[in-house]
Amino acid sequence: MCGIVGYVGKEQAAPILLDGLSRLEYRGYDSAGVAVYSGRDQGLNVHKAKGRLKVLSGLLDGGAAVEGTVGVGHTRWATHGAPSDENSHPQVSRSGKIAVVHNGIIENYGELKAFLQGQGVPFTSETDTEVVAHLVEYFQKDGADILTAVGRCLRRIEGAYALGIISADEPDRLIAVRKDSPLILGYGDGCTFLASDITAILRHTRRASYMDDGEAAVLTRDGIQCYDHLMQPIEKEICQVDWEIDAAEKGGYEHFMFKEIMEQPEALRRAVFPRIRNGEVFLEDFALSDEYIKSLRNIHIVACGSSYHVGMVGKYNLEKMLRLPVEVTLGSEFRYMDPIVDEKTLVIVISQSGETLDTMAALREARRRGASILSIVNVVGSSIARESDQVLYTWAGPEIAVATTKAYTTQLAVLDLLGLYMSRVLGSMPAEERRAVLEDFKTLPEKLEKVLSCKDGVQYYASQYFNRDSVFYIGRNVDYALGLEGSLKLKEISYVHSEAYASGELKHGTISLIEEGSLVVALGTCLRLFDKAMSNIVEVKSRGGDVLALTTESRAAEMAKTANGVIAIPDAHPMLLPLLGVAPLQLFAYYAALMRGCDIDKPRNLAKSVTVE
Ligand code: AGP
Repeated sequence: MCGIVGYVGKEQAAPILLDGLSRLEYRGYDSAGVAVYSGRDQGLNVHKAKGRLKVLSGLLDGGAAVEGTVGVGHTRWATHGAPSDENSHPQVSRSGKIAVVHNGIIENYGELKAFLQGQGVPFTSETDTEVVAHLVEYFQKDGADILTAVGRCLRRIEGAYALGIISADEPDRLIAVRKDSPLILGYGDGCTFLASDITAILRHTRRASYMDDGEAAVLTRDGIQCYDHLMQPIEKEICQVDWEIDAAEKGGYEHFMFKEIMEQPEALRRAVFPRIRNGEVFLEDFALSDEYIKSLRNIHIVACGSSYHVGMVGKYNLEKMLRLPVEVTLGSEFRYMDPIVDEKTLVIVISQSGETLDTMAALREARRRGASILSIVNVVGSSIARESDQVLYTWAGPEIAVATTKAYTTQLAVLDLLGLYMSRVLGSMPAEERRAVLEDFKTLPEKLEKVLSCKDGVQYYASQYFNRDSVFYIGRNVDYALGLEGSLKLKEISYVHSEAYASGELKHGTISLIEEGSLVVALGTCLRLFDKAMSNIVEVKSRGGDVLALTTESRAAEMAKTANGVIAIPDAHPMLLPLLGVAPLQLFAYYAALMRGCDIDKPRNLAKSVTVE
């Protein structure tokens, strides 16, 4: 996620901004920048640089090289436009008099950019944020003050945004706007602060207000005036923050993994909502033509680890939607298997980091064989993204924990959206079925929030079972694919041995391992196979095994008649249930590892990005 810091006061702003940004580095970023008002002659002094914050700080001599007591700072996690100096924030208006820092996504930036270019406005970056700087200036053309112009701009932009805006024409005020991305206001003596996370300003003040969606604020040396979505003045409660700075590092969570599990509803909103418009899927800058899609003979998904598990779930959904054969292959296996891949194959490469060498090697082999490459990636501008013909970013924000969670969920969501898009082109799925899935897609973040709100129930089951030395995850169809991810999550952070098994395969050998006290996590969210799931549970129970079942709310009571424990997720379209079902499995692994005293964010022997073969 991007980081925002703002300051209005009597001290030099640049050192305060740089220090605040340094306390947001844990959020992950790829570039940084500051804008400070340095007086009538210099106006806005803007400095920004790709890379680590220390690059920028070195350029500015720790901030001493920039004069001025009003400014904004930003650490950028790229979504629109690769990491570069030009794409770093602050983004500046044509006149150079307005500087904007932004966290979130301007969903309709394309049309606004076209409108502004039609007005002769030149753009210097690939970012969505630059549109805001030019649009605010556009709305000042009748002499409107900065707050009025910002209000007019907010009526035109759509999406998620936390904005910090300063103007050389009104240098004693800083404008803040919040919608779907957090913003905090800080109150000091003769100064005020803006931050995307309390961590950035905690050493200056513990008096803070938390902006709500749709609100704006004007920060000055004398205080802060807040406004509601109608630009009517409102009073905000000022809280006393008693966090210790290091606790706030992870937004108050004990581990990045837990923070990222809890961020999944917001990550889903960012990945999905901008891509559903007027009841159809809208894929930005999509270069694969309808003719090409209609020419396809097969699809090959290539990935590693959890990204491979996304492909395993995606296979079921894509084949159902597209009626095309979908192969899913491990990156490390692909180039050694003489795959059936040619110019009539779409190779979908899935990778959170975009740097996994096994996956990159498979990408290059697929290209050598004539395939087109579409990648689903989280890190903007990463190697796999740069070598693909088409990239669909997950916009999940930085994922710090080694064990992936929100990236898995958003990768799967984007893969489903791709399938829905292609099904429209191919006419391979009834329109009403596609619309039903898309309608349900929009309810997912809320349903996922409900799943996460039941985390205590999962924690209870983890407390029952964390000491088991082996766990089976069984399921049929997508539940088997989901079990692969549940099993890997448990293994990689709790070091408990685990296997995922197709339920129907148990009787062909593995069931010999089931004995008194064996723990089996039985996934039964695929309701058309529910009876089969139930019979497999009986099979395990009759051999003395303990069964923790996962199913939907509508079938939980029935499942509870047989299983030792049941975790229920809200009912949803069958294709979307894995997006809900994975969350309890993530939480189960997290709590089991917690109770086993494991290093959750940095598990032994593992790296966040595996750049070796
Ligand atoms: C998942 O929790 C693991 N960290 C690992 O399996 C990971 O999914 C795999 O290394 C692939 O990484 P990528 O998605 O960045 O390519």
